[in-house]
Amino acid sequence: MKINLTSANPINLKTDCLVVGILDGGKLTASAKKANKTMGGIIQRLVDDGDIKGTSGSILMIPGHPNSPARRVLTVGLGKAHESGVAEYKQAVDSAATALARLPIRNATVTLAETAVADRNVSERLRLLAYAVCDATYQFDQTKSTKERKRPLARVTFSVSSRAASVRARRAIRESQAISNGVKLSRDLSNLPGNICTPSYLAAQARKLQRSHGLKVTVLDEKRMEQLKMGSLLSVSRGSRQPAKFIIMEHRGAAQNQRPVVLVGKGLTFDAGGISLKPAGGMQEMKYDMCGGASVFGALSAVAELGLPLNVVGIVPSSENLPDGAANKPGDIVTSMSGKTIEILNTDAEGRLILCDALTYAERYKPDAIVDIATLTGACVIALGHPASGVFSNDDTLADQLLEAGEQTRDRAWRLPLWDEYHEQLKSGFADIANVGGRGAGAVTAACFLSRFTEKMKWAHMDIAGTAWKTNTKTGSTGRPVPLLTQFLINRSTN
Ligand code: BES
Ligand code: MN
Ligand code: ZN
Repeated sequence: MKINLTSANPINLKTDCLVVGILDGGKLTASAKKANKTMGGIIQRLVDDGDIKGTSGSILMIPGHPNSPARRVLTVGLGKAHESGVAEYKQAVDSAATALARLPIRNATVTLAETAVADRNVSERLRLLAYAVCDATYQFDQTKSTKERKRPLARVTFSVSSRAASVRARRAIRESQAISNGVKLSRDLSNLPGNICTPSYLAAQARKLQRSHGLKVTVLDEKRMEQLKMGSLLSVSRGSRQPAKFIIMEHRGAAQNQRPVVLVGKGLTFDAGGISLKPAGGMQEMKYDMCGGASVFGALSAVAELGLPLNVVGIVPSSENLPDGAANKPGDIVTSMSGKTIEILNTDAEGRLILCDALTYAERYKPDAIVDIATLTGACVIALGHPASGVFSNDDTLADQLLEAGEQTRDRAWRLPLWDEYHEQLKSGFADIANVGGRGAGAVTAACFLSRFTEKMKWAHMDIAGTAWKTNTKTGSTGRPVPLLTQFLINRSTN
């Protein structure tokens, strides 16, 4: 998808589809008024007849008019977005984008960023529009023998007033373009099935990013992980025929001595649960258990594309979790890279077993901040559902920065606690710590487990089990939280 910005009068542009906004009560926006005039008053007539409504997200397609260079016009209700703000605006841009994605068109001109929205400036409106269009036009057909759409929507032009076509607006477009490319990369990796997207496949994709984006890539193999004493991570991959890979991607955008932000993403390319086998129903969804890792790929590609003046290290420990004669057994005790011993009471709580060694490894980068991202617990889906990712942190400022980046990009997150009381649940009679903490607060005890390996760092954990994919859709993975993570890094590079 190519996104352009124009301050020309959108009504004069040749386009396959012109998108204009209608406010609550059927009031025409400035561009809708202009289009109405060139088209002999048809928009106003359709409003008067009740065909066009201003309610947020309502749409109507009007065929082109001989006087208008637009082949068709799509009217989109903006509701009370000018008063009530972003929720209605998001609904409007999403429904406009969905309608555009379904049309047999190659390009479109969208005027929806022109209208004021209560709590969003023009850059933020442009961002929301750009994400919506990229999201709606996403297709995944790598694993189909026939492609769904041969000539999809390829270019969208957003019109803004000449005053608004500022450096900031252009930057917003550039950033959303990079984020959208990152989201697409992340979605593509996540949607691939476990037999194609193996740890070795992910490692090869990282190498590809080295060539295309200039990232420095290092892949540690199991032998190296043995030397590093990653006993917890290796205990998970022992039950799989696919060798584990420890993938490191570095973007060096600032001085050598500037401490990096480290992102660590769970890269379980398939999680059957191990000996604590998952039930068969829905198990195919566990191909998405590498979405945290995929979001690290997406964020790093965006950061590199933008050339952010920041050092960022992405780490993706990658493995499968399968039942096998060599697999972990409930009751097994392993020694992590940190030296702490772990009693594995449930082999299905494997994400934390690979992440703890990755977090310990990350200490060597002396991170300014470290964020891990993982489809870690079903309990997080119960707690927050699909709208919000869970955030846990030992640092209030870091937590606030992540939440804020989530609001900016509408890729939202919500903070949950890491109180001492919850740590009680992780006590083991036989080892330093147990890998599960019983029924209550499963998302919290998982985060508490990780926090025991990050005491020396400013750390946050994001549980994305509810946000990383949607069940039963053709396009499955969402690419979240690539927008949040990239925005977080953009904000850090400008502060
Ligand atoms: N990958 C799963 C978490 C998950 C489950 C994400 C369902 C999305 C949907 C993770 O490895 C896991 O199995 N967690 C267990 C932890 C439990 C054994 C303490 C879970 O959530 O059931
Ligand atoms: Mn599991
Ligand atoms: Zn898992």
